[in-house]
Amino acid sequence: MSRRAAVVLGAAVLASWGLLGTQAVLTAPDVLNLRITTNMTGVIPSTLYGYMWEDINHSGDGGLYAELLQNRAFQGVLPGTQNALNAWQPYNGARLSVTNKVEGVTSALPNSLQFTIPKIVFGPIGFENTGYWGIKVQAGWTYNASFYAKSDTFTGPITASLKSTTGTTYATATIKDISSDWKQFTFTFEPNTSAPDTNNVFHVEVNGPEAAGQTIHFGMFSLFPPTYLGRPNGMRVDLAEALAGTNPGVWRFPGGNNLEGASWAMRWKWNETIGPIENRPGRVGDWGYPNTDGLGLMEYLNWAEDLGAEPILGIWSGISIQNYSDYSSWPIVPEADLQPYIDDAINEIEFITAPANSSEWGALRAKYGREEPYQLKYIEVGNEDQFQPESYAGYRWNAFVTAIGERFPDLEFIATTYPSTALNPPYMKIDYHQYESISWFENAAFMFDNYPRNGTQYFVGEYAATSTNDSVPLGTIASGRFLYPTLAGAASEAAFMTGMERNSDVVFASAYAPSLQHIRNYQWTPDIMTYDAGRLVLSTSYYVQQMFSLNRGTHLLATSPASTNDSAPLYWVASHNNETNTVFLKVANTGPDDLTAYLSFDFNVSSLFGTAVSLSTPTLSPITGMFNISNTLDEPENIIPVSSAFAIPYPDRYNYTFPATSVTVIALEANM
Ligand code: AHR
Repeated sequence: MSRRAAVVLGAAVLASWGLLGTQAVLTAPDVLNLRITTNMTGVIPSTLYGYMWEDINHSGDGGLYAELLQNRAFQGVLPGTQNALNAWQPYNGARLSVTNKVEGVTSALPNSLQFTIPKIVFGPIGFENTGYWGIKVQAGWTYNASFYAKSDTFTGPITASLKSTTGTTYATATIKDISSDWKQFTFTFEPNTSAPDTNNVFHVEVNGPEAAGQTIHFGMFSLFPPTYLGRPNGMRVDLAEALAGTNPGVWRFPGGNNLEGASWAMRWKWNETIGPIENRPGRVGDWGYPNTDGLGLMEYLNWAEDLGAEPILGIWSGISIQNYSDYSSWPIVPEADLQPYIDDAINEIEFITAPANSSEWGALRAKYGREEPYQLKYIEVGNEDQFQPESYAGYRWNAFVTAIGERFPDLEFIATTYPSTALNPPYMKIDYHQYESISWFENAAFMFDNYPRNGTQYFVGEYAATSTNDSVPLGTIASGRFLYPTLAGAASEAAFMTGMERNSDVVFASAYAPSLQHIRNYQWTPDIMTYDAGRLVLSTSYYVQQMFSLNRGTHLLATSPASTNDSAPLYWVASHNNETNTVFLKVANTGPDDLTAYLSFDFNVSSLFGTAVSLSTPTLSPITGMFNISNTLDEPENIIPVSSAFAIPYPDRYNYTFPATSVTVIALEANM
């Protein structure tokens, strides 16, 4: 046996390969001999790991967007219907309706809440907002609240409070001087006591006998807790901190299907998501609920900056989704009618990037608080246009890329069709999505090994292991689809991610999707984080993203052997960070056995201590060896990463056992 072969694999491994024929599989007690070399084979892009974002599962409204009141401005609802009162309830016999028969707060918000007090009433009377299935009341927080009100006859006072559904009052404010013109009233709540749960409401009342027979109109309510980095109109702190806690390199937004709209008119319109929130009409999003658009274009761009992530801006490419399962029903803008939409995209990019003093759109951005242009490098033309390839390849891609490219020559364009679809001009970057089964992700760990090295690059712009079911990965929960990511699913994603990282000369970015899920109202599973009004759980997939993203090498290191299908169920990638002089070895073990590797190095470690962080079922716990297991809101810490430090007796080798169905990142200090 040559020295190389001896280094490569232990005898037990070779024996098992012989037995298994075409696909070799490591099983205990097989041992992998794995050498990490000093051969730097490529630069790892900083954009490699990140997220795709759209409002789905109440990820924005009711999720990352910190606003606590649901249906705060009666956007996207039909006045006069019961549904228009979603999340609002009368208190003590109040008559409530949503109307557009009186002038709204602004022309963008024509609907208001009509509160009529009966002629005979005893005690206080009013109405309540139940939030996004509850409201968190936290002692020590300052809540910024506001509403617009007017009445032809009633002048006040109005009492607003944070209360439990069982009647405990946590904070109160009194509002006076209501007049017949719309006026905004702002006030704060500073509760001294935290509520034991989120069964709380935003309560508004007047003295019943004093107000009897009168009518008051209300519009654009708002209730904000403290936000991430204290940004006004900002993000819910726990969710934002968790997303930031993976140090994402890209932030792809605003969709996903939610970019596209059920019709052209219902598409995500950038210019209706900017400026004062009273100027944002909102829309019924593709996922079936009204979007306030409180999280708008500038909020997303500020957020990407806060994260240090490269924004990848999706622009509407001329298709909407009328009926998802019938592609022939999707409205496609004919070539002759496309120009206004191209102009609209150009205006959007100008709004983002133009100097404030030389462009109408740049000046508008400055007026809305941002003088300095935002950095923008990547434009994604559409979303999943492989479902409408003829018109995309026929004219839509060409029309958008040609016109925008002429105006902004430094931008890079990402296509969203099948990689095999020929486009004119040819795409240089392509986004193609992967929602697949566990075994698909394991096999796909090597799919980029054969990707052509012809200058084009790949963006895995949405991916997640969604199911145990190979034939229907997007089926029902009963057929194997995950409600929450599982350990086995996350390990398979990690296997795939080793392949992306090993091939990061051609995979320039990736984005796990979808990101967030409100457990009380969601449309898509699994998601990287799940929450309700008070709690948050980080999934196994979240931890994999975090482990891969935080332990970033700047350069790939060759290993001997390279990770191939022949060494499944171990998958690995090695890298070196030139700034910190750290060598990382990321390993997914997707099998049912603990597997040992004899690691050896072409270098000497400079510290005889290494560290490892590992995600697996905890030893000595009742769930040891259960791999189809998740973190849930009720059991949020079933599977969490465990860090360890270990002594390295010899500076050029170490034996490590990778637990069954696990993801591990080993870090070694090494001067190279
Ligand atoms: O992530 C959920 C949906 O999956 C996205 O909106 C769409 O792009 C994909 O089909």
